Amino acid sequence: MESNKDGSYKGWNSIWGKKQSSNDYSILFTKGKAKNILEFWQKCYYEDLKGLLKKGDIKRFLELGSGRATTSMYLSNDGYTDITLVDLSENALELAKVNFTNCNLQLPKTVLADARKTNLPASSFDCIYNIGLLEHFEDVEPVIAETARLLAKGGIVFMPIFPKVSAKKSLLSRMLFSPASLIAHFFKKAKKTSIVEASKNEESIVRNTYGPSYYTDLIKKYNLTGSCNSYNPYWGVNQNKQFEKLVTLNAYKFSYFLQKSFYKPPYMRAKKWNGLAYILIARK
Ligand SMILES: C[S@@+](CC[C@H](N)C(=O)[O-])C[C@H]1O[C@@H](n2cnc3c(N)ncnc32)[C@H](O)[C@@H]1O
Repeated sequence: MESNKDGSYKGWNSIWGKKQSSNDYSILFTKGKAKNILEFWQKCYYEDLKGLLKKGDIKRFLELGSGRATTSMYLSNDGYTDITLVDLSENALELAKVNFTNCNLQLPKTVLADARKTNLPASSFDCIYNIGLLEHFEDVEPVIAETARLLAKGGIVFMPIFPKVSAKKSLLSRMLFSPASLIAHFFKKAKKTSIVEASKNEESIVRNTYGPSYYTDLIKKYNLTGSCNSYNPYWGVNQNKQFEKLVTLNAYKFSYFLQKSFYKPPYMRAKKWNGLAYILIARK
């Protein structure tokens, strides 16, 4: 497969290769309670996806740009059996298979392919989802075009998007959640603190800055109905893991419990000012 910056094969394959050998967040799925913010996010994304599925209607699932396939592990754990993973990195698919096996989950189908041209049959999936794919393209249109082609009538698209965080938002999140790191930052002692900021590994990977209207317009162009909105108010910026576990995580869990009590899915809905992501939900 060719290396290119949009959806970079080289960059991603190297990230997943390192995760395979390091165990550092190589698995985010858990059957128990979330032990850190990354696990908490993944559980909540899945709750939102599950909340949007009508029982019985949706059977054929495709995780497009699956990485370690955390969401698919949750689906499989809940008894869904017709799951396909597509990724352009063989290391990602290999890691996903190891994770499914280690958790005694039924292995999904895996397809090594570009999300812009999978060569899978048209209208062959009832639900197409991913967590963090669309922001990795300068031109997202081919991914949306392929998604619309693969989606069956009545099907649903669920795609949280994590754009590059603007300096203003990053400052706001640090002021709210990590004032100590902000002070340290001004004394130039701080490391990069936001999980969503590009890491060194991501140097060769695109992270775009498109806003919700870009995605809403794109899905309309491909005759899908739906919209893209602010998502995930739970910033992950504490450097102190103990503090994160004892204070931030519990506060987030309580806030999420309230969101779940008051709203329909997506429960992780956010306001424009506090969302660290967007959620694209569309139907055919
Ligand atoms: C943020 S990661 C997804 C992480 C995933 N949600 C998980 O649980 O690990 C984005 C994934 O998209 C894949 N990807 C990027 N560009 C792609 C493309 N053009 N075609 C297929 N997959 C692509 C990357 O290899 C990577 O695994």
